[in-house]
Amino acid sequence: MSQPAPLVHSTASTPTALTSSFKEVVLPQILGIHPYVPGKPISELQRELGLTRITKLASNENPLGASPKVLEAIHQALVDIARYPDGSAYELKTELAHFLKCQTNQLVIGNGSNELLELVARAFAGPGDEIVYSQYAFAVYPISAQVVGATGVEVTAKNWGHDLDAMANAITAKTKVVYLANPNNPTGTLFNRQAWEAFISRVPAHVIVVLDEAYVEYAQAAVNAQDYLNGMAYINAHPNVLVSRTFSKAYGLASLRVGYMAGTPEIIGYLNQLRAPFNINQLAQVAAVAALKDAEFVQKGVALNQQGMQQIITALNELNIESIASVANFLCINLGEKAAKINQMLLQKGVIVRPVANYGLTQFLRVSIGTHAENAHFIEALRASLQEQQA
Ligand SMILES: Cc1ncc(COP(=O)(O)O)c(C=O)c1O
Repeated sequence: MSQPAPLVHSTASTPTALTSSFKEVVLPQILGIHPYVPGKPISELQRELGLTRITKLASNENPLGASPKVLEAIHQALVDIARYPDGSAYELKTELAHFLKCQTNQLVIGNGSNELLELVARAFAGPGDEIVYSQYAFAVYPISAQVVGATGVEVTAKNWGHDLDAMANAITAKTKVVYLANPNNPTGTLFNRQAWEAFISRVPAHVIVVLDEAYVEYAQAAVNAQDYLNGMAYINAHPNVLVSRTFSKAYGLASLRVGYMAGTPEIIGYLNQLRAPFNINQLAQVAAVAALKDAEFVQKGVALNQQGMQQIITALNELNIESIASVANFLCINLGEKAAKINQMLLQKGVIVRPVANYGLTQFLRVSIGTHAENAHFIEALRASLQEQQA
């Protein structure tokens, strides 16, 4: 029998310059990027330490998982995975427009809201331009500025959160985009409607303001309606405002990667032009549609979060440990100089939290709120680590 022909014919000789560098040709801004550091996966800690009981409270995920209705919808859609997804995400956008009370041409869907945050920088900024964000704000903002070669302008935080007055002052003729996280990750702080209205009235109409509301469902339940800022109420009166939200947190779809932005049809149109043709896979689309229809599941998760937050704060009070007041599904706790050491000790005990030294918060660890049992595991491991530390 003859041998099958090789699929690829190569006429190239063996490369000789294996040590050659592409530093001269890569875009200069790429060299300076410090990539986003995600939470440690459970499987990694399992491989490293062979532990059987692991609690991950490091990525602000939904401890309840996803709604059973979502799982059912995904199951039914599996039969079609050989087909390309609906590139326009028609059904999801229709459902979302209904939910948000806006038009479908005011929505762009992203592979996680992360993709959209970056797309805004790509669409509006480049070398010589400035992108403004707060100290301690979500790490993707400075990265987005760097990726496009724009200058990131970090504005000093006030009480661990956004100083909107100072941010408005930081806007110059070069400013193209301002990123705001409300609530902010990793500090969990929130600015209110009055502060926002004073801020937006000072922003020039051509400067894009991204209001990142990744944790909106938790925040809404934590503050009174009077002060609460819902970004969606501003997109018609302020065409430079984009509201960013996600299915990764309260809806429990983090691994499927679905987020969206709402804004004026013109800007949304540019972002739709820029995104990849099939950026949202079909299972993610059907899952997001089903998730939107299960408001009860979201409410259950929000209520669990409130109880869990209380459970952890009570334990921290007993341990005499301070934290930054948070309206989201996570909490930054102050462990002083011991923070990095305690993080290692927690890992040894099977608890993964998030170090936030990369934000300049070297004394803090961020813990996501989990189920009652997961929170209890964290508290028990923290208490034991603090005791060992003192011994
Ligand atoms: C403030 C904020 N914005 C956006 C995101 C991105 O979420 P995703 O890309 O999963 O939608 C996160 C995730 O942690 C976040 O904390």
